[in-house]
Amino acid sequence: MIFTVAIDGPAAAGKGTISRAVARHFGFAHLDTGLLYRAVGAKGGDPVRAAQTLSEADLTRGDLRTLEAGQAASQVAVIPEVRAALVDFQRRFARREGGAVLDGRDIGTVICPEAEVKLFVTASAEVRAHRRWLEVGGDEAEVLAQVIERDKRDAERLVAPMKPAADAVVLDTSEMTIESAVAAAKAVVDTRLSAEV
Ligand code: CDP
Ligand code: CDP
Repeated sequence: MIFTVAIDGPAAAGKGTISRAVARHFGFAHLDTGLLYRAVGAKGGDPVRAAQTLSEADLTRGDLRTLEAGQAASQVAVIPEVRAALVDFQRRFARREGGAVLDGRDIGTVICPEAEVKLFVTASAEVRAHRRWLEVGGDEAEVLAQVIERDKRDAERLVAPMKPAADAVVLDTSEMTIESAVAAAKAVVDTRLSAEV
């Protein structure tokens, strides 16, 4: 079975948490596409070359989850040649046998417009910054400023800007617990899966 779940949305909306839970529940593979851009940003040197030569080892380095790595990722993510170099890998992953969940910014719009399920997971910037601050600590106002700056760059770039696909289900998790957000996402997938058979 070929079945793609595309989960897009801004920083710290809950994409990763929901994606992992959905993938585990339905037995699908999961790809966190933000990690690709974080790895390109962290590699240094020419970002286009970094994207073209990205390896498994680049994706497993320990410093990819920091705020700085997030900022660097969003800076290289505006470069069209960087995005182009990562397309094939993501598309192959999305259409692999057995089902796949991909989370990012442009999965439902650019990488896999034919995805069977598209979710756009969001929450207010304040709620998202608070969640990220609980993970990384430091100055919460600074975390909020960085989240807002990154969202703006992601939404305003010319190539593959972050936006909900026309046929995406929008899930605002501002007032939701993780459990209810996961349950809502599973329900959308369940409904679409039932239509498959
Ligand atoms: O992948 P993304 O950056 O969109 O978000 P995440 O890493 O899944 O979630 C960011 C943080 O928010 C994690 O610590 C989650 O546990 C938390 N979270 C939450 O508190 N409530 C939700 N409804 C969803 C996520
Ligand atoms: O976890 P969080 O939502 O904070 O960030 P991420 O998903 O790891 O993404 C880091 C950055 O990579 C984003 O701010 C985007 O600039 C970029 N990105 C992208 O352009 N396209 C994707 N499909 C995924 C991430």
